[in-house]
Amino acid sequence: MLKLCRTLPGIAVWPFVSACMLAQATVRPHPERQQWFVDAGKMTYAMGVNEQGTLQSLYFGPRLGPHAVLPVAHSVPERASQGPSSETTPQEYPAWGAGNFTETALKVTSPNGDRTLILKYDSAAVKGDTLEIVLKDATQPLRVHLYYQAFPEGVIARWSRIENTGTGVFGVEDAASAALSLPDGTGYNHSWMTGMWAGEFQMHTEPLEVGKTVQESRTGHTSLNANPWFAVGKTAETTEEAGPVWFGELGWSGNWRLVTEATSLHQARIVAGFNTFDFHWNLAAGQSLETPKFYLGYTDGGNGEASRILSRFQLHEILPMRAAGGLPKPRPIIYNSWEATEMNFTGDTQLALAERAAKAGAERFVIDDGWFGKRDDDHAGLGDWYVTPKKFPQGLKPVIDKVHSYGMDFGIWVEPEMVNPDSDLYRQHPEWVMQFPNRQQTQMRNQLMLNLARPDVKEWMFNWLDKLVSENDIAFLKWDYNRVWSEAGWNAAPGSSPEHPNADAEKTIYVTQVRNLYEVIDRLRAKHPKLEIESCSSGGGRVDLGILQRTDEVWPSDNTDALDRQNIQYGFTHGYTPQAMVAWVTDVPSMDHRMVPVQYRFVVAMQGSLGIGANLTKFSDAEMDLSAKLTAFYKTIRTTVQQGELYRLQSPMGSDESQVEYVSPDKSQAVVLAYLHSQRLMLRYDPVKLRGLDPAAMYRVRALDPNKYVGDVTVAGSVLMGAGVQLKLQGDYDSTAVALERVQ
Ligand code: GLA
Repeated sequence: MLKLCRTLPGIAVWPFVSACMLAQATVRPHPERQQWFVDAGKMTYAMGVNEQGTLQSLYFGPRLGPHAVLPVAHSVPERASQGPSSETTPQEYPAWGAGNFTETALKVTSPNGDRTLILKYDSAAVKGDTLEIVLKDATQPLRVHLYYQAFPEGVIARWSRIENTGTGVFGVEDAASAALSLPDGTGYNHSWMTGMWAGEFQMHTEPLEVGKTVQESRTGHTSLNANPWFAVGKTAETTEEAGPVWFGELGWSGNWRLVTEATSLHQARIVAGFNTFDFHWNLAAGQSLETPKFYLGYTDGGNGEASRILSRFQLHEILPMRAAGGLPKPRPIIYNSWEATEMNFTGDTQLALAERAAKAGAERFVIDDGWFGKRDDDHAGLGDWYVTPKKFPQGLKPVIDKVHSYGMDFGIWVEPEMVNPDSDLYRQHPEWVMQFPNRQQTQMRNQLMLNLARPDVKEWMFNWLDKLVSENDIAFLKWDYNRVWSEAGWNAAPGSSPEHPNADAEKTIYVTQVRNLYEVIDRLRAKHPKLEIESCSSGGGRVDLGILQRTDEVWPSDNTDALDRQNIQYGFTHGYTPQAMVAWVTDVPSMDHRMVPVQYRFVVAMQGSLGIGANLTKFSDAEMDLSAKLTAFYKTIRTTVQQGELYRLQSPMGSDESQVEYVSPDKSQAVVLAYLHSQRLMLRYDPVKLRGLDPAAMYRVRALDPNKYVGDVTVAGSVLMGAGVQLKLQGDYDSTAVALERVQ
């Protein structure tokens, strides 16, 4: 048995169980029963080998005790001649074969034309916090390695590696990261997030009916249209604050697919990983194909606790730049000039904004698109990554120096995977874009996709980014990606050539492109360890745990309208930590032609990593003073907001009143951000009942607006949670914030 124990702040202690036990990540084999128990935080995942030699799922639920075993695995008998055992036995990694027609995880064509697989248990090993189980086909020289990594925050990572141990070439047509069997039963509901440009992270929850639902990306990247996150609860039991939730998300920034399937026999499963659409991988002798990580968790604490587990997990295990065993630094307040100037600027106009940004409390100044090549609008320049002398006659240095003199560090926008046909790069290397022979190249925003699967494109990309960051004092890159794929051809793919095209070989572009992106970022960060990066893709088109292992924050949406943004942020926090969620205060009228007061815009943006994108040169003195006051307040609550426990007290979806609360892991500080969309019928704002405080402690109230808080200055945690806080919000778009500091 292997135990890893790390004390995690913020994990409540169950009666009779030590905090250390709860925080354990343990892989516990039980060789006599051929069972394995993966304990992570408060949950256990278990599997075992049945009498047929098939690895099957046994358990995924509340943590079992350290000596618990389960009944020996047994296959489900054939139910009818058209209901074979292979279909109803909950296989851990079901391959297509032996009459299995529920959603499978693996489908290959063997060198001799055999298109089925029957996977049997071969061996198992525990290395560190990771369990590896090897399955092998009964006939073909193919092994499947299944990995289970346990994390103390209450998450396991599952992924697979398909290995060719023979001499021929296997064609892999489908290779999922994992198949997850839910406990047999009915009454499940299923939540997922869809989106579009300017409308990402829209939550849906529906009963899980018999049949399949598919969430996927075919766009080449994670996608604006859907996000690789899911949660499944029980309709009659699961709420925001209680009840069972099985949840998970993928760590992959390319085409992905997540299938949720319920059958008439009360079985439900989720299969996720690479998208099978246009997918093929030629697996040569001795080679392996490794699939992306699928991160999974279980809680009986409702949807709120599922989000808090994911947030803790991302802070402790996923986001880069963690101090040893610790957390990444809270994010600085960014000023980004995009909405203020778009590409129409000079060094001087940027500096005028920078001076105002510093006065408003910003800590980082970012020049967005338009600083390079012949980039005056989106028709030209992408790919020509040199500083344009037209806007910066002395280069970036004097601008960066001035930004530093205002007390801020400096960041800049890049879009490395793209090229405009009107660019020197494209004129020199037309072969570097994705393309099919003699086929039009579909442009989007006047740009084409570079084929980063090519080794020469990868080297070029690393080299210019390295040069840019080495020659300038750049603390931060906003890494953008503003179109989806089309004509995904790669005639220089290994195994293909213009003379002898091989479509199957070219399809590896979907995986290789993403792997090379990861490699470029990893190399860049290794060489420039202080560099920070934001992932943006026309908003939230590249938000997943693969990119978040390499980027410090993400831009959830180009939509900065404060009302829309509340809904987008509500969805976002179900899957991702507030620390990674960049939110800017921008000008009004908004995209929706809505007028919203400055304070409301700020208090909405305070839900994550606060930033400013408004044209501050047009702010009045009073608006500048208010901005400075609000950023100063935010700095006093920032760590709690970004790294604390989030309670979505009242959802903004369809509600006039909404609130979010954040509690620091040691419960010494809490923050409530409260909103009133529209007062109606002269009704008073309902008392806001807090959660997660120390009931026995006294908290001192520090109200952003003392005139909007009614009550004592020092209040018991039990009163704040039981009776609540009375706020005086009225009219339209009113908002406030209240910080609570524990005094005893
Ligand atoms: C995308 C981003 C914006 C901005 C522009 C620049 O749309 O989402 O924030 O950076 O590109 O062209």
